[in-house]
Amino acid sequence: MIKVRNLTKYYGERLAVDNISFDVGKGEIVGLLGPNAAGKTTTMRILTGFLTPTRGDTWIADCNMVTNSLEGRKHIGYMPESVPLYTDMTVREYLAFFGRLRGLDAKRTNHRINDVIGLCNLEEYVDSIIGKLSKGFRQRVGLAQAIIHEPEVLILDEPTVGIDPLQVSQTRTLIKELGKEHTILLSTHILPEVSATCGRVIIINRGRIIAQDSIENLSAIVKGARRLRIEVKGPHDQITKRLQRIDGVKKVSREGNYLIVESPIQIDPRSQVTEIIVKSGWTLLSIETVEMSLEDIFLQLTAKDKEESDSE
Ligand SMILES: Nc1ncnc2c1ncn2[C@@H]1O[C@H](COP(=O)(O)OP(=O)(O)OP(=O)(O)O)[C@@H](O)[C@H]1O
Ligand SMILES: [Mg+2]
Repeated sequence: MIKVRNLTKYYGERLAVDNISFDVGKGEIVGLLGPNAAGKTTTMRILTGFLTPTRGDTWIADCNMVTNSLEGRKHIGYMPESVPLYTDMTVREYLAFFGRLRGLDAKRTNHRINDVIGLCNLEEYVDSIIGKLSKGFRQRVGLAQAIIHEPEVLILDEPTVGIDPLQVSQTRTLIKELGKEHTILLSTHILPEVSATCGRVIIINRGRIIAQDSIENLSAIVKGARRLRIEVKGPHDQITKRLQRIDGVKKVSREGNYLIVESPIQIDPRSQVTEIIVKSGWTLLSIETVEMSLEDIFLQLTAKDKEESDSE
């Protein structure tokens, strides 16, 4: 549904997007995850035909967005980073305006307004002036605008940024709901967003894709690693040194009151860890295997990417 090939964008001298390629299949919800300035908004603006790439091509529903963006835009609902709302219009007027702009006739527009008002839970505010709505509700109006013409593809640039936790969770539920009917690409720099809404994630850093996979596979790839979290009474420095000598242990580090022992997944050092601690007269309070969080993965990948490019 979304196809991106060798996309590169320079702003003058500045390389914002560096030769990226990816696909989003029909019905998928994919997260474009990356820190500030990673190139998320730039990629989305190119995908929606608002910006021309320096090199490369993008297709939405088989429409080439570089050469035929007018046709392509009919298939896209776009919620930009800062939703440009006409603040003196009511929600209903605004949605009517966009419905007509997107080519719906008056009857269909009215019909769709009622649909999207319901979907986005805007009933209470339909006749309110947009300028007087809270940020979270404005975001919803932005989302309602994006789906008014029933596009196949939704492109949402940081859809929950700046809204309160309750509304964040409602918006995520709404996005998942929309995912049943639409193909969605959403950007975020918030890791829980991806795990809460997306089936797959594309991690982008400094204009480059550093990983793309399902969340589960990504954990498996990056970790291929086992992490044991142990709580032990005794001199942590000495214990660390001793545990580092166990065959196959890659790293022992401190995390609050715990020690984290990392090893390849094939190696299970639990019995050796236990034996060493007990034999040395220290007290083992707990030992457990911990999952790597998306945050760990992200930090590892970006650190690895930095090492690689520093050594280039
Ligand atoms: N109009 C512009 N002119 C010049 N440089 C730009 C322009 N827009 C973005 N950039 C630069 O391109 C790079 C990528 O920016 P982009 O907005 O795509 O990042 P982002 O991933 O969306 O970041 P954020 O999480 O902060 O929204 C940044 O270094 C930014 O400074
Ligand atoms: Mg952005």
